[in-house]
Amino acid sequence: MKQIPVILDGDPGHDDAIAWVLANSSPKLKILACTSVCGNQTIEKTTYNALRIMALINLKVPFAMGRPRPLVGDPIVAPNVHGQTGLDGPKLPEPAIVPLSIGSVELIAKIIEESDEPVTIISTGPLTNVGAFLLLYPHLKPRIARISMMGGGISTGNWTPAAEFNILVDPEAADIVFRSGVPIIMSGLDVTLKALVFPEDFERIRTLKNPVAIVVAEWLDFFYNFHRKLGYAGAPVHDAVAVTALIHPEILSSKDLFVQVETTGDYCRGMTIADRLGVLGQRANAKVITGINRKAFVDVLIKAASNYGKDNNG
Ligand code: RIB
Ligand code: CA
Repeated sequence: MKQIPVILDGDPGHDDAIAWVLANSSPKLKILACTSVCGNQTIEKTTYNALRIMALINLKVPFAMGRPRPLVGDPIVAPNVHGQTGLDGPKLPEPAIVPLSIGSVELIAKIIEESDEPVTIISTGPLTNVGAFLLLYPHLKPRIARISMMGGGISTGNWTPAAEFNILVDPEAADIVFRSGVPIIMSGLDVTLKALVFPEDFERIRTLKNPVAIVVAEWLDFFYNFHRKLGYAGAPVHDAVAVTALIHPEILSSKDLFVQVETTGDYCRGMTIADRLGVLGQRANAKVITGINRKAFVDVLIKAASNYGKDNNG
């Protein structure tokens, strides 16, 4: 099977962590590198979390720390959702690798330059690193196969009524990405709020009993704490949809749309606006994922977690 070469860029974050567990378990992907971005927590905390996730899943690839703050605005963190560490809950191993001395943007450029085929970036946090990379290395755009990102929403926001968290943290970076011409798969809230893992599904994962599955179930326990109080029927594992879009597109539905990012405005900064009626006459710049087969999605996660019970997943 021809593997898709990917770079994982995230702000772990419980759902980023589950997305990386999923990506690492799939034979369809070849993870070339991982990078951290500031979002759910400070860059120091998301970096430490990323390295511990990599140790847990025995993922030994080049890693570089992301930029310390968004391109323009101030950092926004989410301790209410992910805890003070950004990945509260189960105990995790200490990092097994040392970050490179270069930054995330330089590592993304190095990996893409050295790859003998175009590389896919799976972005599950604010687009700060990806936006900076596109600004600094525009000549490498043709060597990016696509950006599969979790972020935005064409119907609602979740951090403000208009804006989803990842886009709101760095709208300027998101604007660069959506204007870049690089193919985008946008897994926004339209689909991720349907990507719910129910408590009974947590138990199906926990009973797999391998160390990774147990941690995933405990991440879900913690992550659901916040959402349960808001009346959610399950934990919306937002970021895993950006991976699913590459390895199981058959369980998703989408629309090709022209999407713009609002970078100003008293109420709408960070909003992703889709031209659904085509009034602007612009070519679509994003495949916007709108639907998901939830049960199939849960089965994908369970299969991924079960793979860690076999020898080949460390
Ligand atoms: O809005 C959900 C997104 O914000 C997810 O990526 C979550 O990890 C947080 O980063
Ligand atoms: Ca995230």
